[in-house]
Amino acid sequence: MLSVSVCVGSSCHVRNSRRIIDELQEAIRSRNLDALVDLRAEFCLGHCIDGPNVKVGNEILGSVAHEAMDDFVDAHIVPRLEG
Ligand code: FES
Repeated sequence: MLSVSVCVGSSCHVRNSRRIIDELQEAIRSRNLDALVDLRAEFCLGHCIDGPNVKVGNEILGSVAHEAMDDFVDAHIVPRLEG
């Protein structure tokens, strides 16, 4: 199970992190990866200036665009599940 946390702290929240959760969930579901990914919201990952932030495993990725969740899953989640 791969842990994926979307920051919903105030700084990331104002940068659309709620939409990231919704669209990331949809991108994961469309690839039938629901059972392999533990998607959750988390308060402040400590990198506010780089937000919105998403933590995949132990890596924090910044400036995540909610419009690009399909690409995000393919680039950052699928390789970790395969590796
Ligand atoms: S509010 Fe998201 S990293 Fe601080």
